Amino acid sequence: EKGGYPSFMEKEINDQPDAVAQTLLGRTNGEGVLTLDELRVDPSVLKSINRIIVLACGTSAYAGQVARYAIEHWCRIPTEVELSHEFRYRDPIVDERTLVVSISQSGETMDTLMAVRYAKEQGAVTVSICNTNGSTIPRESDAVLYTHAGPEIAVASTKAFLAQITATYLLGLYLAQLRGNLFQGQIKDILAELAKTPAKIARVLENAEQVKELARSMAETRTVLFLGRHVGYPVAMEGALKLKELAYIHAEGFAAGELKHGPIALIEEGQPVIVVVPSPRGRDSLHAKVVSNIQEVRARGAKTIVIAEEGDESVREHAEHVFYIPETSTLLAPLLATVPLQIFALELATAKGYDVDQPRNLAKSVTVE
Ligand code: F6R
Repeated sequence: EKGGYPSFMEKEINDQPDAVAQTLLGRTNGEGVLTLDELRVDPSVLKSINRIIVLACGTSAYAGQVARYAIEHWCRIPTEVELSHEFRYRDPIVDERTLVVSISQSGETMDTLMAVRYAKEQGAVTVSICNTNGSTIPRESDAVLYTHAGPEIAVASTKAFLAQITATYLLGLYLAQLRGNLFQGQIKDILAELAKTPAKIARVLENAEQVKELARSMAETRTVLFLGRHVGYPVAMEGALKLKELAYIHAEGFAAGELKHGPIALIEEGQPVIVVVPSPRGRDSLHAKVVSNIQEVRARGAKTIVIAEEGDESVREHAEHVFYIPETSTLLAPLLATVPLQIFALELATAKGYDVDQPRNLAKSVTVE
């Protein structure tokens, strides 16, 4: 049942082109208009919301952080992301015009379930993004958008993460369509770009050996730092989380802009730093800022490992290793940039002889608070 792979995790990483394709399947009518039929919330209610709160834990919360950039950009609705277990205990401000989007692979995470219940009691509209049909969180929510990534067996989440991100893009585009924030042509273009991502993920997977080789050479590493900006920031944190939970290596993801406010003090000779570089074609000088962050850590002795877009030659001179991902728009890049980081953690943990499907101390579904 591992499909010929040595672990469920490796199978699930390789399932990702299909997982994303499944999440996208059947969400539009023939004319490229998003339908999301299963999302049974009165459109007038969705039109009236003035705030979105995304609730989740762990990897699912990183999917939520990616979602925030896309939803705010496309829909102009203020969006916050909060860990479910923090949300419930701070007397949050929620009302009938708040849309609460919970994200959970299992649909059984107790902290998220309790947070959704709380939000519902306060009158919020609750939508669940979930991978497990008929599980508790979608049953208790007003509506559900299933990710359809297929069962995820490995404890560490991989394909569900990409599927969750994809589902939040669909939700964001649907809201933008409903509320008239984007032209239908713009939505169509983004959907067309999304439709190309499964093939692009497959191309990233074809280059897995390059990442694996580096991972094996780093089996003795004690600490790895990850840097990213904008949507690359949650990707960096996800990369760090995968390394912690699978390889039991201390790892931390930072917002690259935060470096000089403290973390740069950690850099010493030989410290590996993995940097998620945005597309040089994107706006807002994001790319130039990240390249200068790479230079800053390198000048202090860091061993720099870079994930960059194909054709971006500017990073080569600043990096020991560059892994290229296919071109895509800035907002969609997490669907590609995450993959080498998953492979890196998988292979490093394997090199250390650990069970990647069942990391110590962890459970697939956390049904206690
Ligand atoms: C990390 C991981 C966990 C889960 C978290 C939430 O690889 O799997 O961090 O993402 O426990 O689980 P769900 O999504 O089932 O609510």
